[in-house]
Amino acid sequence: MDQHHLNRLITAEEIASIVKKLADQISRDYIGKELILVCILKGAFMFLSDLVRQLQIPVQVDFVRLASYGSGMKTSGKIEITKDIEIPIEGKDVLIIEDIIDSGRTLQFLKDRLALSNPRSIKVCALLDKKSRREVEMEADYLGTEVEDIFIVGYGIDFNENYRSLPEVYYVTPIDHPKK
Ligand code: IMP
Ligand code: MG
Repeated sequence: MDQHHLNRLITAEEIASIVKKLADQISRDYIGKELILVCILKGAFMFLSDLVRQLQIPVQVDFVRLASYGSGMKTSGKIEITKDIEIPIEGKDVLIIEDIIDSGRTLQFLKDRLALSNPRSIKVCALLDKKSRREVEMEADYLGTEVEDIFIVGYGIDFNENYRSLPEVYYVTPIDHPKK
């Protein structure tokens, strides 16, 4: 996809209300618990930073970076951790913060991997979900909104490392060149 259009899908106001709703639910559900948010880099950094500021409970924050090998627009079977969490999670409640669920393989890998450290619980909070693309069983416990099978950028989410800084969510469409 060389030349392409960005089409706005979710406005800053809509994102703010989605984030507030999720933060309220999480704050209610984890009151009195020792909650650790594990943010998947890089895509979820903006979502995490907005979410934590709306929470009404104390939390700890950690980061994980995953690499998946395959074509640029799809997660292959082979996933690796290239930056691990640093906070001990044994006996703690863990909530994974993800930008977008597609095949479900990234989250399946990370949940299995974090489970080896014996946390008290592991749940998932995702901003976006392309449910129609699922290849393995995976449900977000907290979900912003479902999206069609389209390629998303903005609000932390990239296309070849571009567009992460945009404050709103867009989808990418190719520009068709008329044949001469
Ligand atoms: P999964 O492992 O197939 O569920 O893929 C999830 C990961 O793929 C996300 O963390 C994103 O990094 C990336 N991804 C999935 N869909 C999109 C998209 O539409 N735009 C940008 N990245 C995406
Ligand atoms: Mg990602």
